[in-house]
Amino acid sequence: MKGLILSGGKGTRLYPLTYTRAKQLIPVANKPVLVRVIEAIRDGGVTEIGIVIGQTGPEIRELIGNGDRWGVQVSYIEQPEALGLAHAVKIAQDFLGEDRFVMFLGDNVIQGGISSLISDFANNDWNSQIVLKRVKDPRAFGVAELNADGSIKQLIEKPQHPPSDLALVGIYMFDHHIFEAVNTIQPSKRGELEITDAIQWLIEHRYQVYPHIHEGWWIDTGKPIDMLEANSHVLEEIKPTVAPDAIIENSEIDARVTIERGAKILNSVIRGPTIIGEDTTIIDSYVGPFTSLYHHVTIENCEIERSIVLEHSTITHLPQRLQDSLIGRNAKVTCAEGKPKALKMNLGDYSNVWIV
Ligand code: DAU
Repeated sequence: MKGLILSGGKGTRLYPLTYTRAKQLIPVANKPVLVRVIEAIRDGGVTEIGIVIGQTGPEIRELIGNGDRWGVQVSYIEQPEALGLAHAVKIAQDFLGEDRFVMFLGDNVIQGGISSLISDFANNDWNSQIVLKRVKDPRAFGVAELNADGSIKQLIEKPQHPPSDLALVGIYMFDHHIFEAVNTIQPSKRGELEITDAIQWLIEHRYQVYPHIHEGWWIDTGKPIDMLEANSHVLEEIKPTVAPDAIIENSEIDARVTIERGAKILNSVIRGPTIIGEDTTIIDSYVGPFTSLYHHVTIENCEIERSIVLEHSTITHLPQRLQDSLIGRNAKVTCAEGKPKALKMNLGDYSNVWIV
């Protein structure tokens, strides 16, 4: 079996963080989502992986390289324009050949990995397997309607009036018949070749598509709130470790805190689940649960909770607790002394600030 990861697209819903960075490279619990996807595929025994890349390709190539750091062989497939998930499959045909493959959207995070799904598909003669999850509001996803016997009746992409609460998770398995489908279907109203339509085509042509209903959590990290939610879930599951060279002085550290190499924590309280990245410094501060501080971050005289702070950012002397926040790279947040007492900001395009 081969793996196909979709990592093209623009990530506009995550602006401004994704102006300068591929959305799949934003870290959740200090590990880029794309790396989590690669590891999940590898753990299922699949090591030959194609990654579809778009405008942000150079950054993805730079981090992932040939994949040997993760024990996989990566090939890149260039998609000049994000013309849809089925279009991405179409242009990957040379790489995939006649092999069965697992396709994983590079911005999805799922509980429990996909090893059992991969072996189920390998041990059955299904032409495709899809993964479904019950969600509160399925309108932002592909939606499946099942028959009474559990087989699929129909699939619809982002319906206004969903026929069920079963959303399509961004993990799919196919054999080569999917190429007939992606080469036949037409672009949807939003101008994309939809994978949902391609699978519907398989069903209509009597190919066997098996629906697996996932019981654990699943997050499509499309929006900032989703990133925070994925971060919380993953933090809850990681086994905490403290690097031997971390410096901890006069501080109270909860049992569920991971502290990476070279981190320094002075006169502070850290409550888990939380992760403190490499060479990050925390002084006179409180870092609360569900927080991920990436590498080379400085937190001084602040309280921060349920947030993600990316590399080389500095947060100092805040009069109020910072929470539910997503702070990009090299950002500075501080409280200045002196008069006039005013808010002063240098914000990137599409930034959001909430003042209460
Ligand atoms: O996350 C699950 C959902 O993913 C499914 O429920 C939907 O049926 C499916 O269409 C998809 O919807 P999204 O609107 O979330 O897809 P998005 O445009 O965010 O793209 C998903 C990933 O695929 C993302 O990593 C970018 C990449 N991509 C996307 C397009 C449109 C490509 O590599 N090429 C593309 O042309």
